[in-house]
Formats: sequence, structure tokens, C-alpha cells
Amino acid sequence: MYPDEKLDEEAKRLFQHLETVKGGACSEWTLEACRLIAPTTLEINELKKEKNAIILAHSYVDPEIVYGVSDLKGDSYALSLDARNTNADIIIFAGVVFMAETAKILSPEAQVLVPDHESGCSLADSLTGEELVVLKKKYPDAAVVCYINCTADVKAECDVCVTSSNVHHIIESLPEKKILFVPDKLMGKNIQIEMDKRGVDKEIITSDGTCIVHDVFDTSFIDAARKKHPEIKVVAHPECTPEVANAADYVGSTGGMMDYVKNSGFKSFMMLTECGLVNRLESEAPDKEFIGSCKFCPYMKKNNLYNILQLLKDGPSKNQIIEVNEEIRIKAKASIDKMFSMCN
Ligand code: 13P
Ligand code: SF4
Repeated sequence: MYPDEKLDEEAKRLFQHLETVKGGACSEWTLEACRLIAPTTLEINELKKEKNAIILAHSYVDPEIVYGVSDLKGDSYALSLDARNTNADIIIFAGVVFMAETAKILSPEAQVLVPDHESGCSLADSLTGEELVVLKKKYPDAAVVCYINCTADVKAECDVCVTSSNVHHIIESLPEKKILFVPDKLMGKNIQIEMDKRGVDKEIITSDGTCIVHDVFDTSFIDAARKKHPEIKVVAHPECTPEVANAADYVGSTGGMMDYVKNSGFKSFMMLTECGLVNRLESEAPDKEFIGSCKFCPYMKKNNLYNILQLLKDGPSKNQIIEVNEEIRIKAKASIDKMFSMCN
């Protein structure tokens, strides 16, 4: 039990971040709503200190996690660097399992935990390491590039890992013309278009995965929105279809989309991505306005304050602990390290 004074102070801290946000556990964050979650955020933050734990939060998780209890927040690339650089004994990954696996690959000494072991990803689930071995045999002269949204087994079979923030630079720098890019076929098509635009001679071959959040946007959403709000700027993630990417004003990683909106002189945006990112922008760029369009990732939304508190208070159950076989880890780490070295 916390004294009223402490709860009021925590409620005020939360309210400063959440006042302008229209999502997460509340569709309207009043000071009273913040007061209701204050005992939980206080307890989580105290337990983190006690246990030398940190919480890494992807921008797609609910805002009360991002602003209430996370230590570091960002896109997949930034969070993988954070995971590599931490000295924490425990890393709680509020995101999805492949991100937590990446953290374990980079920080094997830490105990890496996920609030819900079913926080998968349709892309990561679309291809196994064994399937990639078979695919590689069909294209022996191709460089194998894996999007970070894949399992450790798949990363272990790749030459280099990429994220949406560095994929073009990395593919452009590879000497091979043929690139086997897995597991996102829509992002693969978008990369091919970008390489052609840049005059870089590459042939992108893909496997068959898609993101169930981004593959549903279509250009009719954009046409309708532009008709009604001719002033809007359309912002999309490269996991969207090439038609959507082509019709958007900006296409980029979650970090790139945030920077674009924050630094833009325009006011109204249509965000073709996960709603958590819109919530971050509502908090951090309150002068901007967002025309309804975002979608929920069911996997990201499995994270909440209560399963995070449970992890710290009661300890993890077996399936909340991320383990990666050491042989796989070393091979997977090589593909991630190659990404880091190519981004320097
Ligand atoms: P970012 O790498 O842009 O953070 O994207 C991760 C993701 O899962 C997008 O759906
Ligand atoms: Fe995977 Fe799509 Fe969810 Fe990102 S938004 S974690 S790619 S299912």
C-alpha cells in the first residue's frame, strides 16, 4: 500500500505523458484513470530496481507500458542495440518473442523474459530454420538476408540480419546481385522497387510471409482519406503492400515514421501501422492530428502492466523465460553483428 501523496505524485507523472493519448487501457486518460494504475506502475518500478531488471518496450505496446514502466523504448533496431548494451540481470521484453530472442542472443548472461509467451508474430511464424535451409539450396549464389522479424533458427541460417531502418543500405552494400530475403514477401517487393529506383542491380527473391497487421491496408483507405482530408500526409511501414507504399508520402521503420511526423511541417497524418505508434505520437507530438486508420497487432497487445508485474513479483513461469540453444545463438549472433558492423 502506498501513501496517498505518493500515488498522487505518480498519477501526475503518468498524466503528463498520457493526457493527450487516446488508447491503451483507457480511451481517455484522465488524472483519475492514471491514479488507478499508479499502484501498479510504482510497484513495477520498485521491483525493477530491486532486481536490477530493465523493461524494453517496442513502440507498438500500450502507452501505459511505454510511459509507465519502460526504461527504453523504440524500434527493433534501437531495442536490439539497447539489449546488447545493458548490464541488467533481467531484461523484460515488452514486445514480441522474436525481439526477446534477439535480446537473449545479444545478452546471453541476462535472464530474458516475456510477459506472454504467445506474443508471436505472423512473419516470424511463417518460416522455420529447416525450411530456410531447403530454400537456400535452390539459390546457392544468393546472399541470404533475414528481416529481424524471424526466429533465432532462421537468423542462424542468414548471412546478415536487417531491420526496416537499415535494409536498403545493407542490401545495396552487399556484393551479390541475387538476394534471398526472408520472411516478408511484401517488404521484399518494396525493396526490389527501391533498388530499381536507385539504379542498383539486385534480384530480390522472397519466402511467403506477411505481417497480418500491415498486409490489410489497401489503397482505397488512402484514396477515401485524401478525398475527405486533402491536406493529410500518409505514413506507412514497409511491411505494407507495394501499392500502399507507392501511394504513401513516407514509408519507413517505426522510428523513421515517428521522426517524419515529429519533424514535418504538416499537421494531419494517416498512419498505416500499429496503433501503439499513434499513441506514442499523440503523447510526444500533441500538436499533430491523426485520421483514424491504425490497426492493432494482437501479439503486441498481449503485453500489459499486470503480466509484467506478475513476472517481477512471482517470478517467471518456464514458458516466460527465453532460451536459445548455444550453437544457434552463436550463428544467429553473427548475422546480427554483421548488421551492426554494416550500420557503423
Ligand atoms: P520496426 O523494426 O520498424 O520497429 O518494426 C517492427 C515490426 O514488428 C513492425 O511490424
Ligand atoms: Fe509481427 Fe506484424 Fe505484429 Fe510487427 S505488427 S509484430 S510484423 S504481426
